[in-house]
Amino acid sequence: MSTPVPFSRVSVPALRKKKGAEKIVTLTAYTAPVARAADAQADILLVGDSLGMVLYGLPSTLPVKLSDMIRHGAAVVRASERAMVVVDMPFGSYQASPQQAFRSAARVMQHTGCSAVKLEGGAEMAPTVRFLSERAIPVMAHIGLKPQYVHTLGGYRYQGRTPEEADALLADAQALQEAGAFAVVLECVETSAARRITEALAIPTIGIGAGSACDGQVLVSEDLLGMTSVAPRFVKAYAAMNTMMEEAFAAYAQDVRTGGFPASEHGFTKAS
Ligand code: KIV
Repeated sequence: MSTPVPFSRVSVPALRKKKGAEKIVTLTAYTAPVARAADAQADILLVGDSLGMVLYGLPSTLPVKLSDMIRHGAAVVRASERAMVVVDMPFGSYQASPQQAFRSAARVMQHTGCSAVKLEGGAEMAPTVRFLSERAIPVMAHIGLKPQYVHTLGGYRYQGRTPEEADALLADAQALQEAGAFAVVLECVETSAARRITEALAIPTIGIGAGSACDGQVLVSEDLLGMTSVAPRFVKAYAAMNTMMEEAFAAYAQDVRTGGFPASEHGFTKAS
Protein backbone atom coordinates (compact mmCIF):
# COMPACT_ATOMS: atom_id res chain seq x y z
CA MET A 1 0.00 0.00 0.00
CA SER A 2 1.28 3.47 -0.83
CA THR A 3 1.04 6.63 1.22
CA PRO A 4 -0.62 9.51 -0.61
CA VAL A 5 1.30 12.77 -0.39
CA PRO A 6 -1.30 15.55 -0.40
CA PHE A 7 -0.78 18.68 -2.50
CA SER A 8 2.32 17.46 -4.39
CA ARG A 9 0.27 16.51 -7.46
CA VAL A 10 -2.08 18.26 -9.86
CA SER A 11 -5.20 18.67 -7.70
CA VAL A 12 -8.88 18.61 -8.59
CA PRO A 13 -9.27 22.42 -8.15
CA ALA A 14 -6.08 23.04 -10.18
CA LEU A 15 -7.42 20.83 -12.94
CA ARG A 16 -10.77 22.59 -13.07
CA LYS A 17 -8.96 25.95 -13.44
CA LYS A 18 -7.31 24.72 -16.63
CA LYS A 19 -10.65 24.84 -18.47
CA GLY A 20 -10.43 27.60 -21.09
CA ALA A 21 -6.83 28.37 -20.06
CA GLU A 22 -4.76 25.39 -21.19
CA LYS A 23 -5.36 21.95 -22.67
CA ILE A 24 -5.34 19.02 -20.25
CA VAL A 25 -2.93 16.22 -21.16
CA THR A 26 -4.08 12.78 -20.08
CA LEU A 27 -2.34 9.47 -20.70
CA THR A 28 -3.26 6.02 -19.56
CA ALA A 29 -0.73 4.25 -17.35
CA TYR A 30 -1.11 0.74 -15.97
CA THR A 31 2.46 0.01 -14.93
CA ALA A 32 5.35 1.65 -13.09
CA PRO A 33 7.61 2.05 -16.18
CA VAL A 34 4.91 3.83 -18.20
CA ALA A 35 3.90 6.00 -15.22
CA ARG A 36 7.55 6.99 -14.68
CA ALA A 37 7.96 7.95 -18.36
CA ALA A 38 4.65 9.85 -18.63
CA ASP A 39 4.55 11.64 -15.26
CA ALA A 40 6.46 14.75 -16.35
CA GLN A 41 4.19 15.35 -19.35
CA ALA A 42 0.74 14.38 -18.13
CA ASP A 43 -1.70 16.37 -16.01
CA ILE A 44 -3.61 13.15 -15.42
CA LEU A 45 -2.45 9.53 -15.44
CA LEU A 46 -5.52 7.38 -15.98
CA VAL A 47 -5.35 3.80 -14.79
CA GLY A 48 -8.04 2.70 -17.23
CA ASP A 49 -9.85 -0.62 -17.14
CA SER A 50 -8.73 -0.85 -20.78
CA LEU A 51 -5.78 -2.62 -19.14
CA GLY A 52 -7.90 -5.78 -19.34
CA MET A 53 -7.73 -5.71 -23.13
CA VAL A 54 -4.34 -4.02 -23.60
CA LEU A 55 -2.28 -5.89 -20.96
CA TYR A 56 -4.20 -9.10 -20.43
CA GLY A 57 -5.61 -9.72 -23.92
CA LEU A 58 -9.21 -9.95 -22.67
CA PRO A 59 -12.01 -9.55 -25.25
CA SER A 60 -13.59 -6.61 -23.35
CA THR A 61 -13.18 -4.64 -20.11
CA LEU A 62 -15.98 -6.56 -18.39
CA PRO A 63 -13.85 -9.26 -16.69
CA VAL A 64 -11.55 -6.68 -15.00
CA LYS A 65 -11.78 -6.86 -11.20
CA LEU A 66 -11.42 -4.30 -8.44
CA SER A 67 -8.28 -6.11 -7.24
CA ASP A 68 -6.72 -5.66 -10.73
CA MET A 69 -7.41 -1.92 -10.63
CA ILE A 70 -5.98 -1.66 -7.11
CA ARG A 71 -2.78 -3.54 -8.03
CA HIS A 72 -2.14 -1.44 -11.13
CA GLY A 73 -3.33 1.82 -9.51
CA ALA A 74 -0.89 1.38 -6.62
CA ALA A 75 1.99 0.75 -9.05
CA VAL A 76 1.18 3.95 -10.98
CA VAL A 77 0.94 6.05 -7.81
CA ARG A 78 4.28 4.65 -6.53
CA ALA A 79 6.03 5.46 -9.81
CA SER A 80 4.72 9.02 -10.23
CA GLU A 81 4.82 12.20 -8.20
CA ARG A 82 3.41 15.03 -10.28
CA ALA A 83 0.33 13.97 -12.24
CA MET A 84 -3.09 13.40 -10.75
CA VAL A 85 -3.76 9.66 -10.74
CA VAL A 86 -7.34 8.63 -11.58
CA VAL A 87 -8.33 4.96 -11.31
CA ASP A 88 -11.21 3.38 -13.24
CA MET A 89 -13.98 1.64 -11.35
CA PRO A 90 -14.40 -1.76 -13.04
CA PHE A 91 -17.68 -3.28 -14.17
CA GLY A 92 -19.82 -4.55 -11.29
CA SER A 93 -18.04 -2.55 -8.60
CA TYR A 94 -20.34 0.49 -8.57
CA GLN A 95 -23.55 0.03 -10.55
CA ALA A 96 -25.64 -1.70 -7.84
CA SER A 97 -26.01 1.32 -5.54
CA PRO A 98 -24.29 4.50 -4.39
CA GLN A 99 -23.30 2.62 -1.22
CA GLN A 100 -21.63 -0.17 -3.21
CA ALA A 101 -19.84 2.48 -5.26
CA PHE A 102 -18.64 4.23 -2.11
CA ARG A 103 -17.26 1.00 -0.62
CA SER A 104 -15.42 0.14 -3.85
CA ALA A 105 -14.10 3.66 -4.45
CA ALA A 106 -12.94 4.00 -0.84
CA ARG A 107 -11.00 0.72 -1.22
CA VAL A 108 -9.41 2.00 -4.43
CA MET A 109 -8.40 5.30 -2.81
CA GLN A 110 -7.11 3.71 0.40
CA HIS A 111 -5.11 0.98 -1.30
CA THR A 112 -3.67 2.96 -4.21
CA GLY A 113 -3.28 6.52 -2.96
CA CYS A 114 -4.96 7.85 -6.12
CA SER A 115 -6.72 11.24 -6.14
CA ALA A 116 -9.96 10.31 -7.91
CA VAL A 117 -11.95 7.56 -9.57
CA LYS A 118 -13.65 7.37 -12.96
CA LEU A 119 -16.92 5.65 -13.71
CA GLU A 120 -19.01 5.12 -16.83
CA GLY A 121 -22.63 6.19 -17.20
CA GLY A 122 -24.95 9.09 -17.92
CA ALA A 123 -27.73 10.74 -15.91
CA GLU A 124 -28.65 7.37 -14.37
CA MET A 125 -25.31 7.47 -12.47
CA ALA A 126 -25.81 11.06 -11.22
CA PRO A 127 -27.06 9.95 -7.76
CA THR A 128 -23.93 7.79 -7.39
CA VAL A 129 -21.65 10.61 -8.52
CA ARG A 130 -23.34 12.92 -5.98
CA PHE A 131 -23.03 10.33 -3.18
CA LEU A 132 -19.27 9.91 -3.79
CA SER A 133 -18.50 13.60 -4.43
CA GLU A 134 -20.21 14.63 -1.19
CA ARG A 135 -18.13 12.04 0.68
CA ALA A 136 -14.63 13.13 -0.34
CA ILE A 137 -14.30 11.00 -3.47
CA PRO A 138 -13.69 13.10 -6.60
CA VAL A 139 -15.36 11.55 -9.63
CA MET A 140 -14.47 11.80 -13.30
CA ALA A 141 -17.49 10.82 -15.40
CA HIS A 142 -17.33 8.94 -18.73
CA ILE A 143 -20.01 9.20 -21.43
CA GLY A 144 -20.30 8.58 -25.16
CA LEU A 145 -18.89 5.19 -26.04
CA LYS A 146 -18.89 3.40 -22.68
CA PRO A 147 -16.94 0.17 -23.17
CA GLN A 148 -18.60 -1.49 -20.14
CA TYR A 149 -21.93 -1.11 -22.03
CA VAL A 150 -20.59 -2.99 -25.08
CA HIS A 151 -23.39 -5.57 -25.01
CA THR A 152 -26.09 -2.90 -24.63
CA LEU A 153 -24.58 -0.73 -27.37
CA GLY A 154 -24.03 -3.73 -29.66
CA GLY A 155 -20.38 -2.88 -30.30
CA TYR A 156 -17.88 -0.06 -30.11
CA ARG A 157 -19.66 2.51 -32.31
CA TYR A 158 -19.28 6.27 -32.07
CA GLN A 159 -22.01 8.25 -30.29
CA GLY A 160 -23.95 11.47 -30.87
CA ARG A 161 -24.75 10.68 -34.52
CA THR A 162 -28.28 12.10 -34.53
CA PRO A 163 -29.58 15.37 -33.00
CA GLU A 164 -31.52 13.25 -30.46
CA GLU A 165 -28.39 11.31 -29.45
CA ALA A 166 -26.40 14.56 -29.18
CA ASP A 167 -29.12 16.16 -26.99
CA ALA A 168 -29.15 13.09 -24.72
CA LEU A 169 -25.36 13.23 -24.33
CA LEU A 170 -25.55 16.92 -23.40
CA ALA A 171 -28.27 16.18 -20.84
CA ASP A 172 -26.11 13.37 -19.39
CA ALA A 173 -23.08 15.64 -19.14
CA GLN A 174 -25.09 18.38 -17.43
CA ALA A 175 -26.63 15.94 -14.94
CA LEU A 176 -23.17 14.56 -14.06
CA GLN A 177 -21.71 18.05 -13.64
CA GLU A 178 -24.65 19.05 -11.46
CA ALA A 179 -24.06 15.92 -9.35
CA GLY A 180 -20.47 16.98 -8.68
CA ALA A 181 -18.29 15.31 -11.32
CA PHE A 182 -15.06 17.32 -11.65
CA ALA A 183 -14.45 16.34 -15.30
CA VAL A 184 -16.05 14.20 -17.96
CA VAL A 185 -14.48 11.90 -20.53
CA LEU A 186 -16.17 12.02 -23.96
CA GLU A 187 -15.27 8.82 -25.78
CA CYS A 188 -15.97 8.53 -29.52
CA VAL A 189 -18.43 11.41 -29.56
CA GLU A 190 -19.27 13.12 -32.85
CA THR A 191 -17.10 16.25 -33.12
CA SER A 192 -19.81 18.95 -33.11
CA ALA A 193 -21.68 17.24 -30.25
CA ALA A 194 -18.44 17.19 -28.23
CA ARG A 195 -17.89 20.87 -28.94
CA ARG A 196 -21.43 21.70 -27.81
CA ILE A 197 -20.97 19.75 -24.56
CA THR A 198 -17.58 21.37 -23.92
CA GLU A 199 -19.02 24.85 -24.41
CA ALA A 200 -22.04 24.13 -22.21
CA LEU A 201 -20.12 22.73 -19.22
CA ALA A 202 -18.16 24.56 -16.53
CA ILE A 203 -16.07 21.42 -15.87
CA PRO A 204 -13.39 20.16 -18.29
CA THR A 205 -14.15 17.61 -20.98
CA ILE A 206 -11.42 15.10 -21.82
CA GLY A 207 -11.87 13.72 -25.32
CA ILE A 208 -10.84 10.47 -26.94
CA GLY A 209 -12.03 10.30 -30.53
CA ALA A 210 -14.16 13.39 -29.83
CA GLY A 211 -12.37 16.11 -31.81
CA SER A 212 -10.17 19.02 -30.88
CA ALA A 213 -12.71 21.24 -29.08
CA CYS A 214 -12.51 19.21 -25.86
CA ASP A 215 -10.66 20.78 -22.93
CA GLY A 216 -8.18 17.92 -22.91
CA GLN A 217 -7.26 14.71 -24.69
CA VAL A 218 -6.59 11.18 -23.54
CA LEU A 219 -5.04 8.30 -25.44
CA VAL A 220 -4.13 4.79 -24.38
CA SER A 221 -0.34 5.00 -24.06
CA GLU A 222 0.24 1.62 -25.72
CA ASP A 223 -1.76 2.87 -28.74
CA LEU A 224 0.26 6.06 -29.15
CA LEU A 225 3.49 4.11 -28.64
CA GLY A 226 2.55 1.71 -31.45
CA MET A 227 2.40 -1.31 -29.15
CA THR A 228 -1.13 -2.50 -29.96
CA SER A 229 -1.83 -4.62 -33.03
CA VAL A 230 -4.96 -2.75 -34.17
CA ALA A 231 -5.37 0.86 -33.02
CA PRO A 232 -8.66 2.75 -33.45
CA ARG A 233 -8.74 5.42 -36.18
CA PHE A 234 -8.64 8.30 -33.65
CA VAL A 235 -5.16 7.24 -32.49
CA LYS A 236 -2.04 9.01 -33.70
CA ALA A 237 0.99 6.75 -33.28
CA TYR A 238 4.02 8.68 -32.01
CA ALA A 239 6.35 5.66 -32.02
CA ALA A 240 6.59 2.19 -33.51
CA MET A 241 7.42 0.23 -30.37
CA ASN A 242 6.12 -3.08 -31.76
CA THR A 243 8.67 -2.88 -34.55
CA MET A 244 11.40 -1.76 -32.13
CA MET A 245 10.63 -4.70 -29.83
CA GLU A 246 10.61 -7.19 -32.69
CA GLU A 247 13.96 -5.85 -33.93
CA ALA A 248 15.50 -5.94 -30.43
CA PHE A 249 14.27 -9.50 -29.79
CA ALA A 250 15.56 -10.62 -33.19
CA ALA A 251 19.00 -9.10 -32.47
CA TYR A 252 19.10 -10.79 -29.04
CA ALA A 253 18.04 -14.16 -30.49
CA GLN A 254 20.73 -13.87 -33.16
CA ASP A 255 23.38 -13.03 -30.53
CA VAL A 256 22.39 -15.95 -28.30
CA ARG A 257 22.44 -18.37 -31.23
CA THR A 258 25.77 -17.14 -32.57
CA GLY A 259 27.52 -16.62 -29.23
CA GLY A 260 27.49 -12.80 -29.47
CA PHE A 261 25.80 -12.62 -26.09
CA PRO A 262 26.83 -12.77 -23.32
CA ALA A 263 30.26 -11.18 -23.67
CA SER A 264 32.80 -11.34 -20.87
CA GLU A 265 31.59 -8.00 -19.38
CA HIS A 266 28.12 -9.49 -18.80
CA GLY A 267 29.48 -12.20 -16.49
CA PHE A 268 31.18 -12.43 -13.10
CA THR A 269 34.74 -13.59 -12.65
CA LYS A 270 36.86 -13.45 -9.49
CA ALA A 271 39.01 -10.71 -11.01
CA SER A 272 36.14 -8.31 -11.90
O1 KIV B 1 -10.15 2.51 -19.76
C1 KIV B 1 -9.63 3.48 -20.34
O2 KIV B 1 -8.44 3.49 -20.70
C2 KIV B 1 -10.47 4.64 -20.60
C3 KIV B 1 -9.96 5.68 -21.55
C4 KIV B 1 -9.85 5.15 -22.90
C5 KIV B 1 -10.75 6.93 -21.47
O3 KIV B 1 -11.54 4.71 -20.08
